[in-house]
Amino acid sequence: MKTIVITQAGAPEVLQLQDRPQPAILPTEVLIKVAAAGVNRPDVLQRKGNYPPPAGASADVPGLEVAGTILEAGADCTQWKVGDKVCALVSGAGYAEYCAVPEGQCLPVPENLSLIEAASLPETYFTVWSNVFDRGRLQPGERLLIHGGSSGIGVAAIQLAKAWGATVYVTAGSDVKCAFCEKLGADQAIHYKTESFKDVVKQLTQKKGVDVILDMIGGDYTPDNLEVLREEGRLVLINFMKGDETTIKLSHIMRKRLTVTGSTLRPRDAAFKAAIASQLKKYVWPWLGTGKVKPVIHSTFPLAEAAAAHRLMESSEHIGKIVLVVE
Ligand SMILES: NC(=O)c1ccc[n+]([C@@H]2O[C@H](COP(=O)([O-])OP(=O)(O)OC[C@H]3O[C@@H](n4cnc5c(N)ncnc54)[C@H](OP(=O)(O)O)[C@@H]3O)[C@@H](O)[C@H]2O)c1
Repeated sequence: MKTIVITQAGAPEVLQLQDRPQPAILPTEVLIKVAAAGVNRPDVLQRKGNYPPPAGASADVPGLEVAGTILEAGADCTQWKVGDKVCALVSGAGYAEYCAVPEGQCLPVPENLSLIEAASLPETYFTVWSNVFDRGRLQPGERLLIHGGSSGIGVAAIQLAKAWGATVYVTAGSDVKCAFCEKLGADQAIHYKTESFKDVVKQLTQKKGVDVILDMIGGDYTPDNLEVLREEGRLVLINFMKGDETTIKLSHIMRKRLTVTGSTLRPRDAAFKAAIASQLKKYVWPWLGTGKVKPVIHSTFPLAEAAAAHRLMESSEHIGKIVLVVE
């Protein structure tokens, strides 16, 4: 089968189309004939050599989500049959014509969505559910601040949190991105290059602060994040694009009884991911069916042009998701 291989750590050009054997499945896995594969920032980090894949995942084929048709179901699979159209969270090797995945990590493709749209869902929806709703315990009526509102993750988080009944503030790096986030449902977008998010959030909340922050920036955002959390607030970290180290005031955590947490999805086991899939199916898939939440695709590229897709992602010019079309 055709697959995209990280031939060495480096620039987008290290992504090369190569032939590899079709993967064999375990009894609890299905084999998907991939129609489309989503591109995510962690793929870029992996390509650069900064995000080693977890044990058991492909060492050199990136890709954390796919959509397509089930070609084969393992002997112990009970949920799916050959011919079903699914989208799936995978722990690697999504940039390929065929992909093996534990059956519990698959979700049905909503009837109103294309396979390209469905391929853009799993990585961001699993991550947002796990971090904003499980770890962050966001409640209807609470206030959520999302950094990187126009990212794939941000776009999913805005829509899910609004559907859940929260007030949503976001940061984004241009007027166009801010306008897009507000059109998508964000109550207020903060242009972080021209405004201090700390000052704007204080003003928006009459100095009370927000209940939950979803943060992918880290570094020097952290002291300000802690300052704008209200009592019992939760800071949930999913990356640290501005750095792994910072200085914070521990007194904020004590005085306001804050929770600082975070997680990485990829190394978690199949049972954990299947549990998130069940929650998504119960709460979020009905919203996709009615159009209350919908995928936002910025652009698509043929599988062979994965390098161009990575170049676009690194430019940060995109809003929403970038998808590789495999078929
Ligand atoms: N922990 C996990 O399990 C997990 C899973 C998936 C993804 N992630 C992380 O989640 C993040 C988003 O992933 P993605 O695939 O959605 O990537 P993406 O679309 O490339 O998003 C990255 C975003 O960061 C924004 N950004 C950069 N510097 C910023 C700053 N100083 N303040 C606010 N925003 C800033 C960029 O937008 P601007 O142009 O507005 O700056 C861009 O929208 C990545 O960092 C990724 O590693 C974590």
